[in-house]
Amino acid sequence: LANGNKAGKTRDILKKMDETGKNCVVFYGSQTGTAEDYASRLSKEGSSRFGLKTMVADLEDYEYENLDTFPEDKVAIFVLATYGEGEPTDNAVEFYEFITGEDPSFSSGSGSDDKPLANLKYVAFGLGNNTYEHYNAIVRRADAALTKLGACRIGKAGEGDDGAGTMEEDFLAWKEPMWTEFAEKMGLEEREAVYEPVFSVTEREDLSPDSGEVYLGEPNKNHLEGTSKGPYNSHNPYIAPIVESREVFTVKDRNCLHMEIDISGSNLTYQTGDHIAVWPTNAGKEVDRFIKALGLADNRHKVISVKGLDPTARVPFPTPTTFDAVVRYHMEICGPVSRQFVSQLAAFAPNDTSKAEMTKLGEDKDYFQEKVSSHYLNIAQLLLRVDPNPWTKIPFPLFIEGVNKIQPRYYSISSSSLVQKKKISITAVVEEIRVPGSENIVKGVTTNYLLALKQKQHGDPHPDPHGLTYAITGPRNKYDGIHVPVHVRHSNFKLPSDPSKPIIMVGPGSGVAPFRGFIQERAAQAKAGEKVGMTVLFYGCRRSSEDFLYKDEWDTYKQSLGDSFALFLAFSRETPGQKIYVQKRLQEQADLVNTLLQQKANFYVCGDAANMAREVNVMLGQIIAEKRGISSEKAESIVKGMRSSNQYQEDVWS
Ligand code: 2AM
Repeated sequence: LANGNKAGKTRDILKKMDETGKNCVVFYGSQTGTAEDYASRLSKEGSSRFGLKTMVADLEDYEYENLDTFPEDKVAIFVLATYGEGEPTDNAVEFYEFITGEDPSFSSGSGSDDKPLANLKYVAFGLGNNTYEHYNAIVRRADAALTKLGACRIGKAGEGDDGAGTMEEDFLAWKEPMWTEFAEKMGLEEREAVYEPVFSVTEREDLSPDSGEVYLGEPNKNHLEGTSKGPYNSHNPYIAPIVESREVFTVKDRNCLHMEIDISGSNLTYQTGDHIAVWPTNAGKEVDRFIKALGLADNRHKVISVKGLDPTARVPFPTPTTFDAVVRYHMEICGPVSRQFVSQLAAFAPNDTSKAEMTKLGEDKDYFQEKVSSHYLNIAQLLLRVDPNPWTKIPFPLFIEGVNKIQPRYYSISSSSLVQKKKISITAVVEEIRVPGSENIVKGVTTNYLLALKQKQHGDPHPDPHGLTYAITGPRNKYDGIHVPVHVRHSNFKLPSDPSKPIIMVGPGSGVAPFRGFIQERAAQAKAGEKVGMTVLFYGCRRSSEDFLYKDEWDTYKQSLGDSFALFLAFSRETPGQKIYVQKRLQEQADLVNTLLQQKANFYVCGDAANMAREVNVMLGQIIAEKRGISSEKAESIVKGMRSSNQYQEDVWS
């Protein structure tokens, strides 16, 4: 995994900076790629506005023993995401343990000196989500640790909030005063920002797209050569057969997919409660729109080589490739647009009117909100609205830098690994947002891709009703049948190792996914004669006749589990004028819930983070207060304690 271990690459950041003539390194601790994107942006901005010699670095590629010799004329920027329950991202674990003192080797650095980092100047920005308990914990703790070690921070330690949906604006608001202070402290003059491409794009007349040497969606060399092999992970997906796919809602206007993914041809393993990552393909309609906006229609299948113009720049996809493949498989073209990127594009607008409009959008936060964000426009929609003519002046490398790299999407696995070791179930609601007050309809990239795969598998008479035309049989899928690129991410959302322990699960909507796996597992254990503790599920949906997931399965589990299984249902749209949610059922079952908790039951919540999970947390506090006759403060602290001891576990998303 650690690329830095490859022969010839140094793990000494100072040496690397010296060798490449850099004076500013932007480190990132990233799980899903957002922190990495912000790091690239800071790096680019430092170079274009202040002439800094910047580089971006993955925290796991370097060692930190010699940070105490970091020269005074250089700066380190840390962009750190907080993950899960206040944990560092996988690639930042070593760094984090090192500076926070969880790794004992650091004290050796400068002998008895308790301020070993007195020379280090640094900048810090954190990415977090305020619907989680440990909001931006990692940047806060890393910042405190660096300060304690004597390092000197430039600007404030920034915090972006994904929960409130203000990440981008938080970042923009933080970075301006930071750069001012940065320039002052380092004696830099701001200059007219000049665009200096990080990558070069060269057309390859000598190569034909079907020569077998050109990447047409294959994620890496092994895939290109047809010799794909494990380990399969976030750098290398397994192209897995979909052996079953079906619709689980009974209504026409909404879809929920159940899929069975066969991993028997790989060395992938999973445990009940883990996540499966699906590597998406952009919808054909969106790819076409993007290609059109850039005026690339005639060139889309031309072969290109992309190279970093600087030894530290990494091309985010394999090359040689084609414009079409880059856009279709590697760019997040349907994601939210960054206002800063719009400012950058202004310089390359087709004419003065569109240039003025782009400049205004880039500068005026409220105008941008009104015209772009509130309609959920993607970048191609925005460009074509500003000017329907092709934007041919924008250099393609600017898009490689400015549009995020597409990221795998994670789904809670809805099967038990005890019951089906080599087959993974997915339960996914197909997303479609009709934007209020806008004619725009936004379709979830990955769930609609999965829907198209299902339709293809069934040979549906009207496949892909939205005309999204996914490249299902394209080069990424040069196999028989229907396949999807996947890998597995292990989670801490786990059943108690002793099946006789009671469990309480709260999972409305597709939040029921992991609990289907949990219950499958406990039913199998009961069938095998093991003693299985009380297994209680609170499930909610709109109507029992519409979106009741796995309606027919629960009886089967009941047959195996008998009285140790209880299902409480909340149908939110069946009683006119009354929304019945899982919280209400919890309240009604306060006795049972409290008794089981006192018997050390694990309590699990899965689904919507913003509202449901919060409200369930509050309800649990109320139940405990009432049933134990204690104050609500005391009850809240009991709930907190349950969280820190892992008795209370969440698998939530926003
Ligand atoms: P609603 O859509 O009728 O409001 C799965 O999405 C189920 O969760 C639906 O029945 C949905 O109800 C319900 N739901 C919506 N908001 C909720 C909340 N804050 N707490 C619990 N359930 C909620």
